Amino acid sequence: MQDTRARDVLRGGSVRALVLVAVLSLCMLPAVRRLGFRALSMASQAYNPGTHSAAFITCPNHTVALELARGIVQRKLAACVNIVPAIKSVYEWQGKIEEDDEVLLMVKTRSSMVSSLAEFVRSNHPYEVAEVISLPIEQGNPPYLKWIGDMVQEEPAASTSD
Ligand SMILES: *[C@@H]1O[C@H](CO)[C@@H](O)[C@H](O)[C@H]1NC(C)=O
Repeated sequence: MQDTRARDVLRGGSVRALVLVAVLSLCMLPAVRRLGFRALSMASQAYNPGTHSAAFITCPNHTVALELARGIVQRKLAACVNIVPAIKSVYEWQGKIEEDDEVLLMVKTRSSMVSSLAEFVRSNHPYEVAEVISLPIEQGNPPYLKWIGDMVQEEPAASTSD
């Protein structure tokens, strides 16, 4: 008799404990889920060095630079173009040393789009041989690097007719 009651009390106690544990886990589930998802999404967003590039393009003046920058961003060939004014370029061209006032474009884009970018510049730049060079971006502010990827076309367009 005594034993049975003790067992019942015990069983009642463990059921209550189970219910308590269940309720507690349910309450904590959203937090656990949030943390878990955040950890997961941060892992999948980890930047792979060289995924994006900084490209440099020299232009004869601000008008040409702004026109090119707009065309590049409108076509999603880059996330951002900085126009660096008043640079001086010294170079040899057809046997003569030139010293030109120029404007520099600093372009942030996906590395996979650099050849499309160069193609766009070749067909829209006044120079016979326009400078387009790029360097891989090794690292940076993760949200900014993610933003570059979000803004830029993922793949070069299949057609090059436009
Ligand atoms: C800018 O350069 C282009 C191409 O060389 C030229 O046609 C244009 O007249 C220049 N604009 C100004 C404001 O210097």
